[in-house]
Amino acid sequence: MGLLSSVFGLSLFAALAAILVPWGSHLIRIGGPFLTPNPTVLAEGHGPIFIEDTIHCEDVHHYRPANLLFAACEDSKSTRFDWFPPLGHLTPQPEARGSIHVVNPKTLKSSRLEFENFEGSFVTHGIDVIEDPKQADAVYIFAVNHLPNPDHWLEGAQDTPKARSQIELFHHVLKSKTIQHVRSIQHPLIETPNDVYADSPNSVYITNDHFYREGPMRLVEDLWPSAKWSTVVHVQITDLKAKDSAGLDASVAHSGLWNNNGLGHGRTDDEIVISSAIGGELYVSKRHANNTISIKSTIPFDTVTDNPSYYADPYRTDAHDASGYVVAGVSQGIYLAKTARDPDATDPCQVWYARPTAGGWEKKLLFEDDGSRIRSASAAVLVPIEPKMGQKKAWLFVTGFLSEKMIAVKVDL
Ligand SMILES: *[C@@H]1O[C@H](CO)[C@@H](O)[C@H](O)[C@H]1NC(C)=O
Repeated sequence: MGLLSSVFGLSLFAALAAILVPWGSHLIRIGGPFLTPNPTVLAEGHGPIFIEDTIHCEDVHHYRPANLLFAACEDSKSTRFDWFPPLGHLTPQPEARGSIHVVNPKTLKSSRLEFENFEGSFVTHGIDVIEDPKQADAVYIFAVNHLPNPDHWLEGAQDTPKARSQIELFHHVLKSKTIQHVRSIQHPLIETPNDVYADSPNSVYITNDHFYREGPMRLVEDLWPSAKWSTVVHVQITDLKAKDSAGLDASVAHSGLWNNNGLGHGRTDDEIVISSAIGGELYVSKRHANNTISIKSTIPFDTVTDNPSYYADPYRTDAHDASGYVVAGVSQGIYLAKTARDPDATDPCQVWYARPTAGGWEKKLLFEDDGSRIRSASAAVLVPIEPKMGQKKAWLFVTGFLSEKMIAVKVDL
């Protein structure tokens, strides 16, 4: 009996250990409780250059045809600490009104695009920028907007969610100072949107980063690797002139990932890169004609992985191709629940770069900070520098969802 129970006890212990040890080691690796940030030492002339007027820009894209960066910024140092549903901050801030910025990587200046026909709150998060297929000097910009749900505050409606996030579609003629609102996109499948990937003005993929919006189950979802409850949804916009929930169809493009978060364009037109933030992984994937997505390969990292981007090396030769995937993320995410409420906190972060090799992935840490130069990095893009003898270099632009300024640093590739 004693033997039996101790054998049983041992196997129960072994079973629990088999679950808990990988779980604990994953959270330690990605969450970084024991990490000592090792801020990158920059050589003379390598920055950092702090870009003025780029407050809390969660996402940045490099639009190569015009060599311009586009970012969605909060433009306020305070609103995000009270209202930002992706962080579980759910006290509405009606004055929250961010904007789309254009950053010129040559002058390193940011300018806000002026809305021509768009009123009300704009609580910014992920964006995508694509060429207008009918006008080569113009772009369409899709942007997440985390609006409060007015219904929640009605008598007896406390069970409805506090947020009613939607996607905004804008149009911008390059070099102009303005941006036009095309339409809003609302759908019951768009619940906790994080990032967007557009393949045309009429077709867009959107990540829902969580299933639970708040409460204890959200914590379970944040910590438990088997909580693979996030989705990527596809929206087909059948009428660009319709409003809100009209003139569109939506479907689930992919499900079964843990905390899917950022989306990025890849090497080919049908490649879509998905990140699992807490999972610390990028999924190099393919989108199909039927608007579903299948994962082709996984790149694991040792930190939270937020918005991915792909750098296509314009100076590639057969001997050296510096093209690769770039991803930024907080390196001590375990403290985020506390720091995300504190305007003065610092969130250490890392920016990684991965290139395919014969057998897998070669990964390189491009930049690391303790959070004093850039806080809570969530997106990064590389802008090429024409090579001068040997070593390839690029400007790395890094932005963060709680960073007061975007930075640019020169890196070796
Ligand atoms: C969508 O297309 C892909 C590739 O052809 C296929 O593998 C998948 O089963 C299709 N999914 C649905 C739901 O039709």
